[in-house]
Parts: sequence; C-alpha cells; structure tokens
Amino acid sequence: MTHRLAPLFEGHTDVQADIDGRPADTADHATETRRLVASYHPRRLTLTVSEVITETVSSATFRLRSPDGADLPPFLAGQYVSVFADGTNRPYALSSSPATLDHWDLTVRRVPGGRISNHLIDTLAVGDPLTTSGPMGVFHYNPLFHGDNLVFLAGGSGVVPAISMIRDIVDNGLDRRLHLIYGSRTPDDVIFHEELDALAADHPNIRVDHIMAEPGNGWAGPTGLLTASLIKTLAGPLDGRMVYVCGPQALYPYALQQLEELGHPRRRIRFEANGAPADPTRQAHWPADTDPDTEVTVTAGGTSFRTRRGRPLLDALEDQGVRPEAACRSGECGLCRVRVLKGTVHTAEEAQLRLSDERFGYTHSCVAYPVTDLDLDL
Ligand code: FES
Repeated sequence: MTHRLAPLFEGHTDVQADIDGRPADTADHATETRRLVASYHPRRLTLTVSEVITETVSSATFRLRSPDGADLPPFLAGQYVSVFADGTNRPYALSSSPATLDHWDLTVRRVPGGRISNHLIDTLAVGDPLTTSGPMGVFHYNPLFHGDNLVFLAGGSGVVPAISMIRDIVDNGLDRRLHLIYGSRTPDDVIFHEELDALAADHPNIRVDHIMAEPGNGWAGPTGLLTASLIKTLAGPLDGRMVYVCGPQALYPYALQQLEELGHPRRRIRFEANGAPADPTRQAHWPADTDPDTEVTVTAGGTSFRTRRGRPLLDALEDQGVRPEAACRSGECGLCRVRVLKGTVHTAEEAQLRLSDERFGYTHSCVAYPVTDLDLDL
C-alpha cells in the first residue's frame, strides 16, 4: 500500500514499482532481533566459578566463565550484575576489565550481617554454578559529559568499579586520566593494593592515593576521613572534573558535603546506587510518629502477610516467597516496580520514579516502605 505522503516525493512511482516487484520479505526479523538483544542484555546467565581469589581477610574475587567457554556479554566499566542466591538477589560491581570478556570478576566484601555477601564468601567454590543477570547500571563513564580528567572517591569495597575503570583505561590505552582517592580502615583492608600501586607507577594517567582511618604503626600516608581539605590537597582544584563516589552508605552524604564545601557543582558528582536506606526514618518525608518497628498487613499476589513498616516491600515480599523481578535494589533500575492499589507507602529519596508513577500509584518496591495496610498489584 502506498503511504499517503508518498506522492509528495518526486519519483515515488518508480520507488513503489521497485518495492512491488520484490518478493515479499517473510523473514522473522523479530525473533532474530530478540536473539541479538538477548545476547547483549541477557536476563539470566548461569556461569561457572573458575577461580576464587582471596583479596583481603574480608573480601574475595569470584572469576566467572561461561560453561561453554564462550565470551560473556560486553559491559561498561562501573556496571554491576545482579547475583541470584539464597532466594534473593544482590547487585555486585564487576571488577574485571571490559577488554577481557572470556571471564567476569565479581569482587565481594563481607558485610556484617550481610545475607548474600557472607553466603557467597563462605560457600561459593570453584566449579559451582552462579546465576547472574546481564551487566546493568549507569555508574560508568559517559564520553559526552564526563571529560578526560576524572576523580574517584572510594571507600572500602567501593573501589571495585574504580579498578574496572582503571583496567579499562590501561588495557584499552584510553586517553583519559583517573585519580583514585581510596579510603580504607586499615592497610590490611585495602583491596587490590599491590595492583593499584603498580598500575599508578607504570601509567602517568593513573594516580592512586590511599587514606587510612586506623593506620596503625608504619603507615606514612594520609590518615582520617576524605575531608574537603584532604581532597583539595591530593587532587588540587577540581575545576569541574567529574567526581565518582562509591562506598558505604555513610560516605555519600559525607562526600557530598565535602565536595559542596569545595564549591564543586552537584552535576559533576556521580554516586553509585547503594541499596535501600539503612534507616528510612531519617529521610525528611518519613511520616511523623510512624514507628518503623510496628507492623501492617500487605496483600499481594494472592497472599496476605504482616510485615514491619521499616522493612522494604521487596524484602517483605521475598520473605513470603513472592519474588518480583529486581536487580539494583537501590531504586534505580525500575525492575521491582509495583502498583499500590490501596494504602500508603514511604518511597525513599533513592527511587528514580517516572513522572507519571506517582499519579498512577507505582513505586519501586526495593526502596518503598509500607506505612499503612496495603493492597499491591505485582
Ligand atoms: S530493584 Fe532496581 S529499582 Fe528496585
């Protein structure tokens, strides 16, 4: 059928005759497109642990390979994969280089009381299968906006995306500078210590400064917290450089305050998503006089159950064996979106909702808390 605008274009009859003269295209392009998209963005991969590398007393790297030896999907340094284990999932940043896709490395640090980090470190062994998502997340370099002179403030295991970015720069010979300012509790807690120092020594575009909170004897470098004055001393004027921040939750408001003290614009700071808020009641819009330890009734997926007001809805659903799709568990990816049919939730500041979500009652269950009894549509 000729499009109604076609006659406006000179020569359209010849083009139409050419189209009409061709055999009909009966190929199933949709299936082929889906296959191609799935190869880059798989929802699930079952990989095999080929190596477990002890990094520090509290952290380990799991080297993952495809069981058939094929390359794994490409990723951008700084991205994470969601790991499925023990009836739930957690995001872990990739520490390996995007230049090498015959394996991915996930570096995991123990978290006190951490269900999955401890489970992985205590039980995952060479030869075991591990189910992950494909690479996800937006905490990565953007060539349009980030410039070629970067600063990375890392605390603890927040160094994991940083080493991937540094390996990317070195392995791919990128014309980019990165200055890592890395805070650890003690010298024994520094992950990738030797490699970071060696890469910095060999590559003038990579600089690494270690800061120790509890240095002990024999540490001659900077100590304490990542204060504004220490950042200024080490990095010099920030001059609009992009600053990445990744580490424990407490680092985020602290780093923001220090960078603001230095006059650094908020738009030049990138924070990695970092889980549901440990204490949602500290957020300004937590409803007054609402005790997070009291319970409400949630009805969802054909079941009703009691849960604490201070427990994220996604966790509460998983407690009942109800498992909405989820990846970041930080309010960012939107996979855990649910619709609140009845009742009120506290949606944490971390939730990156669409403009229309509030109007139609959607929330991100990983960072939403039941304030009243709820009816949910999963
Ligand atoms: S799991 Fe990503 S927004 Fe909830």
